[in-house]
Amino acid sequence: MKRVLFSVLLLVVPALQHAFSQPPLAIKVKADKSIAAIPSTMWGIFFEDINFAADGGLYAELVKNRSFEFDAPLMGWKELNSNKYTLNTTSGSALVINRGEQSSSNPRFARITVIGNSGYGLSNEGFRGMGIKEGMTYHFTMLASPHKESAVKIRIELTDANGKIMGKASLSPQGEDWKKYSADIKASHSDPKAKLNIWFEGKGVVDVDMISLFPAATWKNRPNGMRADLVQWLADLKPGFIRFPGGCIVEGRELATRYQWKKTVGDVDKRELIVNRWNTEFAHRPAPDYYQSFGLGFFEYFQLAEDLGAAPLPILSCGMACQFNSAEVTPMEELDPYIQDALDLIDFANGDGTTAWSKLRHDMGHAAPFNLTMIGVGNEQWGPQYLERYLAFTKAIKAKYPKIKIVASNGPFPEGELFDYADKEFRALDTDIIDEHYYNKPEWFLKNATRYDNYDRNGPKVFAGEYAAQSVNTVSPLNQNNWETALAEAAFMTGLERNAAVVNLCSYAPLFAHVDAWQWTPDLIWFDNLQSYGTPNYYVQKLFSNNKGSDVLAVLSGNAPLTGQQGIYASAVRDKNSSEVILKIINTGTTLQQANVTIDGIKKSSSMARVTLLKGATKEAVNSIENPFTILPSEKEIKVSNNTVSLTMEPLSFYVVRVKAL
Ligand code: AHR
Repeated sequence: MKRVLFSVLLLVVPALQHAFSQPPLAIKVKADKSIAAIPSTMWGIFFEDINFAADGGLYAELVKNRSFEFDAPLMGWKELNSNKYTLNTTSGSALVINRGEQSSSNPRFARITVIGNSGYGLSNEGFRGMGIKEGMTYHFTMLASPHKESAVKIRIELTDANGKIMGKASLSPQGEDWKKYSADIKASHSDPKAKLNIWFEGKGVVDVDMISLFPAATWKNRPNGMRADLVQWLADLKPGFIRFPGGCIVEGRELATRYQWKKTVGDVDKRELIVNRWNTEFAHRPAPDYYQSFGLGFFEYFQLAEDLGAAPLPILSCGMACQFNSAEVTPMEELDPYIQDALDLIDFANGDGTTAWSKLRHDMGHAAPFNLTMIGVGNEQWGPQYLERYLAFTKAIKAKYPKIKIVASNGPFPEGELFDYADKEFRALDTDIIDEHYYNKPEWFLKNATRYDNYDRNGPKVFAGEYAAQSVNTVSPLNQNNWETALAEAAFMTGLERNAAVVNLCSYAPLFAHVDAWQWTPDLIWFDNLQSYGTPNYYVQKLFSNNKGSDVLAVLSGNAPLTGQQGIYASAVRDKNSSEVILKIINTGTTLQQANVTIDGIKKSSSMARVTLLKGATKEAVNSIENPFTILPSEKEIKVSNNTVSLTMEPLSFYVVRVKAL
């Protein structure tokens, strides 16, 4: 017995000695003084169509290349029962016809000739397959125009990866005009890699276009809608704003492929498709089948912002293509159309319906304005050529819409010559908001938790517009959304929160990635065709944004702000609505840490505090499609004595502590 006890002691004593390698930390939250009001826009989201985030992702369309407009018109399609290398096919054939100028935004369609009763078909592979769920209904539509005296019937079937039929429907197009035909298909079973087969049977010729398949259950059950599970992740963040449509996608690799919002609104079949700039950007992650159909366009972005209760923040091309790519610029004397796009966008979003652009918003079903208050001029631009263009935009926008806040870019890097130049110029101009981006190693984020402590309180506001800790290096395909990166972001975000007087908007980037079709990692939310999961970084964002509060409070260790002493980072807010003090506190160390947190300046606190813990067992821990819940927040209550919470912080942990101030 003695021997057993001794062995146990041998094991336990060293463990106890190492459990707390630092003395307890006495922390004070000064709850009687608001340092700054937290803006409603504080924590937001950044959306860019990268990693198949729009087509193949948020946009719920399941058919890839539905209108045959990809450079290779039958990309994504396979002919079934075809014998195209003969003049006398016994089944049928497809001829891609280009109407050119006659239908410049959607020039191509397919002319299907059916010869005999064996039938001819087209099969669509979807976006790395189609996600089909058992029991769900799918809405098939197509534009068709049968030729005179044709008797062509259309049989539609969904098949799983093994070729087994999952559901079917049929159509009989009549009359020679282009008409929209539709059919519903109920799925018998699930498969993330399903296909859509369209069989043409009978005899004759039929022209087809805009072949589309959507789940009936989209977000808010809207036609042409979004994947409900993916929007739910965004709604759960309760974002203060949504930045769209990017990112570099705004700029294009060259000016011709820049994002032009006017081509993304109105009838879906008239929105002009273009290549996605991330298509072949990275040789190590080519995606030659990545295009932008713009089925998810600016109207839908505004509507999404409204659904989420988020302020819309569109970023527009300023006449400069991506400076990492072609760096093409529009000459100053030809900048007017670009500026006009910005003015017209404000009208589209906010106008009263009597102007052409606001009437279009009305006609699309949204009479009420979208309440646009901010607009970004350019994405990651730099140099005097940007300043010149930014000034021209600002002059025109402020002259017509003086209340609109303008976001200026501070380029791609958070420090260095380009940053310093832009920062100096934009501060001298008293710019409304400056957009800073930082993709860096976790250590950079820890070191920069105090980045904004000395920023001018009376100068421009900062938009932390794109940030993410990189486990390896920026653009490395080996980057992981691991716990180390999430924890470093949490520590850094305490610095953003503490400086809400200056930093008014923050968004992690990029937002979404398809597990089979991504170009850029890390990303906040990953998905396949049926499932999705939040990364540890997502839960960090959620904990900040769901605990936003209304006023910043000081958090002190001794007399100094707590910004990394003993590896601990913290920030605190008061929530006027719930009368709570909310502390976010992070232990970046690998040992237990005792933190005794006193809420100073209140009469009395609640007797219990609600504590949320987010932690990974190791720095390398990740969530995944197979194991989506490895790192998840958990909640418990702990006692508060004498307005003090005694928190034994686990290694590598992030806590949110809510205490009522009575
Ligand atoms: O978020 C991915 C890319 O990173 C964005 O498109 C760009 O703005 C930044 O360089």
